[in-house]
Amino acid sequence: MKVLGFFVYRSCKEHQLKCKITLILYKTQLMRFNLSEINDLIRSRRTIYPEQFSDRKVHKEQIELLLNNAQWAPTHGNTQPWRFHVYMEDGRQKLSTFLGETYLKLTPAEQQDDVKLAKMLRRPLLASAVIAISMKRQETEKIPEIEEIAAVACAIQNLHLSCTAYGLGGFWATPKLIYSATMNEFLGLEAKDKCLGLFYIGYPAIDWPENQHRRPLEYNCTWIND
Ligand SMILES: Cc1cc2nc3c(=O)[nH]c(=O)nc-3n(C[C@H](O)[C@H](O)[C@H](O)COP(=O)(O)O)c2cc1C
Repeated sequence: MKVLGFFVYRSCKEHQLKCKITLILYKTQLMRFNLSEINDLIRSRRTIYPEQFSDRKVHKEQIELLLNNAQWAPTHGNTQPWRFHVYMEDGRQKLSTFLGETYLKLTPAEQQDDVKLAKMLRRPLLASAVIAISMKRQETEKIPEIEEIAAVACAIQNLHLSCTAYGLGGFWATPKLIYSATMNEFLGLEAKDKCLGLFYIGYPAIDWPENQHRRPLEYNCTWIND
């Protein structure tokens, strides 16, 4: 009887412990964050173009908050390969001039397009901030380059989601010239580093864009169960 009592007691204790762990897991998984808001945040992240920004200024402190979230992207080997060059105020004119001149320098005369050129020159001035985001290649090159690029892309997604949460418009632009040696020189990067984009930030002057279409999951996903 005593022995049986001991086993009942022990299994009760184990059961209580399991219940406690389940409860903790339940609370941590379901209650640490508001999942319904997170789902909405992820799905309502939209590209908002500089032409759709208002004149309202985004302050440096706000940009710092966004970039501090970008810093929390995953990174293999903790290399943190993202680098940010932030163009604000008069710095935007410097970027605009560089983009215009470089577009003309790198595009064969017969392919030069006045509309494209005007856009390149105008866009930095329509935004509160333009961030040139690049990947700093590790000296040892131990981590494969594709993983370092992936980490920077994750940082950009963090940045864009944070913009969305603050009601700020964001636009990840990749004009061809960002992959040129001229761009690396402008940013003071080494040959092995890569600029991955110009990220434009501003307050939207438009209503927040409608959710875009995404294909149903079955088009993009294969399940393997046996
Ligand atoms: C790596 C990358 C590069 C992009 N480059 C450009 C670009 O050069 N010009 C542009 O208009 N949009 C660019 N975009 C933004 C996409 O056009 C945009 O994400 C797409 O239209 C889906 O819209 P959404 O961001 O509102 O979901 C880029 C997006 C990614 C991920």
